[in-house]
Amino acid sequence: MTADGDADTGFTDNEGIPFIGAGPGDPELLTVAGRRLVEEADLVVHAGSLVNSELLDEYCDHAEQVNSVGKDLEELIPLMADAYESGETVVRLHSGDPAIYGAALEQMDALAKEGVPTYLVPGVTSAFAASATLRTQLTLNEVANHVVFTRPQGRTLTAEEDHISDFVGFGDTTVCIYLGTHAVAETMDRLLDEGHDPDTPVAVVYHASWPDEDVIEGTIETIGEKVEDAGYRASALVMIGDAVTGSDYERSFLYGDWARGGDAPNDDPDTDSEPQERDTR
Ligand SMILES: C[S@@+](CC[C@H](N)C(=O)[O-])C[C@H]1O[C@@H](n2cnc3c(N)ncnc32)[C@H](O)[C@@H]1O
Repeated sequence: MTADGDADTGFTDNEGIPFIGAGPGDPELLTVAGRRLVEEADLVVHAGSLVNSELLDEYCDHAEQVNSVGKDLEELIPLMADAYESGETVVRLHSGDPAIYGAALEQMDALAKEGVPTYLVPGVTSAFAASATLRTQLTLNEVANHVVFTRPQGRTLTAEEDHISDFVGFGDTTVCIYLGTHAVAETMDRLLDEGHDPDTPVAVVYHASWPDEDVIEGTIETIGEKVEDAGYRASALVMIGDAVTGSDYERSFLYGDWARGGDAPNDDPDTDSEPQERDTR
């Protein structure tokens, strides 16, 4: 914060084209820094249908808007570089956070080769919006200790590169599947074939944070048919694991013995030696 009360995010002071996470859909979930940059833009190159048009109408109606879907790097890079070099303020808007299945870096590196600097502005990834919709946590005391962001096999991943079964097999991991709405039934069939508990909870959150958001809840055994009945083929987050139900967790140490001044647990050397790094579950 500066002396006159302005937020000094550091992001808006950077040189070059910002690659901004637009968040999961709701315009209010764009960060303050992202909103400021978008409002100042002359040219907004956005990721098409996963960036809510309400956000574009609300924050950058004044700017030229270009949908990047269907454009290759050979078209996108000169478009952004030429506008930037002619003095326009250019922003690149990705859905969610650009760091997750965003293919931002290849654009940034190609722009760097043209002498155009770029930088990243994070956003709310859709797994976080989905967990808020489900009113749960992705990590949950004594239920889920880990989170995985993954995608199923298909054109990009081979069967050998699809590790969903391994992740589900850990048992204490919440598995967040991106880019897998069209393949829920096949993915679940594979999990059943590989011997996973058919009653493992699964939630599918379609368009998290959008006005037409929808939640389908089931299990590895039941969710495939439910999603097919609902007709969703894209734009949903598939979450597997006990944490999706938000139940059966244990009270955390943070708000129990430790808060009352008790000793850190013997098996938690981090808590012992670094009290400022308290577990904030
Ligand atoms: C190309 S990836 C981009 C992910 C994005 N960078 C992010 O951080 O959320 C697109 C996938 O993200 C998921 N997705 C994006 N927005 C979503 C939303 N609002 N609700 C549920 N899933 C969403 C879907 O699985 C979709 O297939």
